[in-house]
Amino acid sequence: MSIANNFETVEVHTDILILGGGMAACGAAYEAAHWAKKNNLSVTLVDKASMDRSGAVAMGLSAINMYLGLKEGKNTLSDYVKYVKNDLMGIARDDLVANIGRHVDASVHLFEKWGLPIWKDEDGKYVNEGRWQIMIHGESYKTIVAEAAKNALAELGDKGQYIERVFITDPIMDGDRCVGAIGFSVRENKVYIFRAKTVLATMGGAVHVFKPKSVGEGLGRSWYPPFNSGASAYFTLKAGAEMTCQEVRFVPVRFKDAYGPVGAWFLLFKAQATNALGENYMQTRAPELEKWAPYGEAKPTPTNLRNYLMMLEIEEGKGPIFMRTDEAIQRIVDSIPDEKEAKRKLKELEKEAWEDFLDMTVSQALLWASTNIKPEEKPSEISATEPYFISSHSGASGAWVSGPEDLAPEGYKWGYPNMTTVRGLFAAGDASGASSHKFSSGSFTEGRIAAKAAASFCVDNPDLPALPEERLNELKEGMLKPLELFNTHKGYTQDPNINPNYIRPQMFMFRLQKIMDEYAGGASSGFKTSAPLLEKGLENLAMLREDMASLAAEDTHELMRCWENIHRIWQAESHIRTMLFREETRWPGYYFRSDFPELKEEDWKCFANCRWNPESGEWEMLKRDVIDMVD
Ligand code: ADX
Repeated sequence: MSIANNFETVEVHTDILILGGGMAACGAAYEAAHWAKKNNLSVTLVDKASMDRSGAVAMGLSAINMYLGLKEGKNTLSDYVKYVKNDLMGIARDDLVANIGRHVDASVHLFEKWGLPIWKDEDGKYVNEGRWQIMIHGESYKTIVAEAAKNALAELGDKGQYIERVFITDPIMDGDRCVGAIGFSVRENKVYIFRAKTVLATMGGAVHVFKPKSVGEGLGRSWYPPFNSGASAYFTLKAGAEMTCQEVRFVPVRFKDAYGPVGAWFLLFKAQATNALGENYMQTRAPELEKWAPYGEAKPTPTNLRNYLMMLEIEEGKGPIFMRTDEAIQRIVDSIPDEKEAKRKLKELEKEAWEDFLDMTVSQALLWASTNIKPEEKPSEISATEPYFISSHSGASGAWVSGPEDLAPEGYKWGYPNMTTVRGLFAAGDASGASSHKFSSGSFTEGRIAAKAAASFCVDNPDLPALPEERLNELKEGMLKPLELFNTHKGYTQDPNINPNYIRPQMFMFRLQKIMDEYAGGASSGFKTSAPLLEKGLENLAMLREDMASLAAEDTHELMRCWENIHRIWQAESHIRTMLFREETRWPGYYFRSDFPELKEEDWKCFANCRWNPESGEWEMLKRDVIDMVD
């Protein structure tokens, strides 16, 4: 008897379907509820985990990295757009960045209203970490925002619901329109079929596509949450959506091994990072930045170039690299003439330093404690991590979405704001590309923008589309196949991990990570790659793809692990293909094409987009113009 027969099928009909439960999804739920009430629509949110602690903000944050302070006159919108674009070496959608930027402050004010404690100075003003970042006591940030999203859905009565612990595998299509999604419960034998007028993909970016630096028990220790595994990229690609910036990964430089944030140290405490000889490489290597003009010469230096200068130090054998926490604290204390006041300040700084980690990366505080680090006495090592796909931070990969009606130039708009090139399918947060530096607050805001547009789409398309029955059965069978395989063959060997009839997801993931690490410019390859390496990587990926059909799962939890890896492989393939397409090096410090080691403004100051064609199964690569809207 087929395993599928042991599964109950739950069918959910809804007008607006929000996939994901992170910051963008919470913003979407909050906004969708508002428009749903006005238009008598229903809203359903589906999260693979629990909204209280899911997504990139799960552990909390110590700062909100996108707050413009427009009303306070702190900044202008065009300055933010310029900052973001320069940080991405000239490649960004000004219209999308500006759209988020003009609304983001209001979202932050909502967070504060809902109970998020934001640092204030003596005059009651927010304390800035850097120009665009404000400090928060953010351990419970996600819980607070999730509560508000749930409350908003609850206000819709039986027209609002959230379903947790359901893993979405595939989009459901009706021709060129996305009309729903299919998934399974990770705790019960249930398959879920969601039938919707409009679908909003907010399932985060991807981690563990590349081999992580952490090994053994530490494997899940990554900077970006390990549970974000490429679901958005897979979902939008499979629906046939055009993607953008799939070559742009993010390599954060973080406190070594536990990945504590560096922002507070660099921006708030004004610490310096140096090589082992105590030299500040941002100063000694400043001439290198000229090679990457005009971006390298602007302030702040783009994130990838800051990384790159550090990597050059390591290559020359000048590591370890240290964050000089001791010197930074001493400098602040020394600037206070009164001895008693200086002592008080020292205590305050120590407290803030620990809280910075406890708010968002508890394990870094544990590592400090277990390695006898007192930040006021001893510097800490920093290091580049493995690459991640996170367009809400300093990456940019995601779906190519329509811009806001009043701001987007021709070519950047074809329908409702934040709709992908697939009818009815919207994307926000890490799922939408080319609008970096939205972070937590901007992702929430973009979720709101997308949900408002999705509600208009529902009003304009009031019929609930029918679902293609035959396709659903196919999807259901395919979804549960790993359980079937394990069940059939598990007795063949004594050790269930080793079996000629199947591969378990962890081993599959190791193979994927090894390919990406060695051929696609991972950490152990010094982030360097070239056409021959990428081509070989693609060949190996094709072999791995064949083995997707042999993935096996013991239970529904492991079934989720299987599907996470299927999702990752699509993220991986689109990444390799786009790196291969872009014949230049634009983001050294993220990746370096050793066969094309320079920036080529004339040929490549453009978006490198791709699309997987669902009809032919072929990949299409295309260039799109970067349109500068601010000087
Ligand atoms: S976080 O996501 O872990 O909080 P991080 O702490 O590095 O990131 O940085 C927080 C913010 O500060 C981000 O907006 C980042 O771009 C910015 N930032 C970090 N370091 C620097 C620096 N040296 N110069 C300019 N901006 C920086």
